[in-house]
Amino acid sequence: MAKEVVLSGIRPTGFLHLGNYFGAMRNYVRMQDEFDCYFFVANWHALTTHPDTQTLKAAVHRVIAENIACGLDPEKVCLYVQSDVPEIAELYLYLNTLAYKGELEKTTTFKDKSRQQPENINAGLLTYPVLQAADILIHRAVKVPVGKDQEQHLEMARTFAERFNHRYGDVLPLPYAFNYGGELTKILSLDGIGKMSKSENQLATLYLADEDDVIRKKIMKAKTDAGPSEPNSVKPDYIQNLFTLMNIVSTADTLEKFNADFNNSSSGNCIIRYGDMKKQLAEDMVQFIKPIRTKAADLQQNKELLEKIIQHGAQKARVSASATLQIVRKAILG
Ligand code: TRP
Repeated sequence: MAKEVVLSGIRPTGFLHLGNYFGAMRNYVRMQDEFDCYFFVANWHALTTHPDTQTLKAAVHRVIAENIACGLDPEKVCLYVQSDVPEIAELYLYLNTLAYKGELEKTTTFKDKSRQQPENINAGLLTYPVLQAADILIHRAVKVPVGKDQEQHLEMARTFAERFNHRYGDVLPLPYAFNYGGELTKILSLDGIGKMSKSENQLATLYLADEDDVIRKKIMKAKTDAGPSEPNSVKPDYIQNLFTLMNIVSTADTLEKFNADFNNSSSGNCIIRYGDMKKQLAEDMVQFIKPIRTKAADLQQNKELLEKIIQHGAQKARVSASATLQIVRKAILG
């Protein structure tokens, strides 16, 4: 039986961080043996918010290199750049006739972005979910690993596919968000305010490209407090976040020790030393990030190899995309 098609896109608008790793990339790596996977860099989408393209190509290369460094194998998955697959643009054109201005204007991300960039409310921003639907439907993907913030876009992709099928015949399978059932590991910002972010809270976000000393500095500055007032207290979220990180990068013994220290602490008898905990976490984090950073940096230096990988991805993607487009054209145009 043919494997189900998985697809996800990554905007090249900022540096990838630990939140991306645990929320997305680690899952992609897990999916690559089980499914027929397509992962791509959404550089057309980036134009809707980042019209200045001077650094775009380098950012695209970085995203590709970092994904490979995290364990994606370009021989197993199809890893490509959106703009290398013109078939997506043609499907986007057809889907645009199935999307209504009213529903696009009501989209949460459109409203947010319109507020953030009132001087540039371009039509690409309005039809962003249509392009995203084209990304997905061009490979007839059914499983789309994305976070909560993308669920509305997924729902719209289903709506457009349903309208297409209703009008032109049953051609497009309906895509659904997918993350192995469980909750994604959420990584908070080290200052305790919100999530780690590609562009905000940079001093409290751990990027996959951070140097060892930067990692140490950021972790040592992470928010803590005077310790729990009673034994076995519930951890405040910024403390829980340090334990979450430790759970990911440190040994079970280390985690166990600090957990026990926390649970045995109370006011007047504070056993847990957050300074020591952060020092240990920093060293373990350095060991975790270093190989990813080094591999990604090496690959970004090796332009020839990187270009070859990108071309190979584009070729594979276009085979699948043109097969879908052929069916779509026939259904619409006869
Ligand atoms: N909109 C997604 C984001 O901001 C990126 C994206 C573009 C995407 N096309 C996609 C995600 C297709 C999944 C499927 O993160």
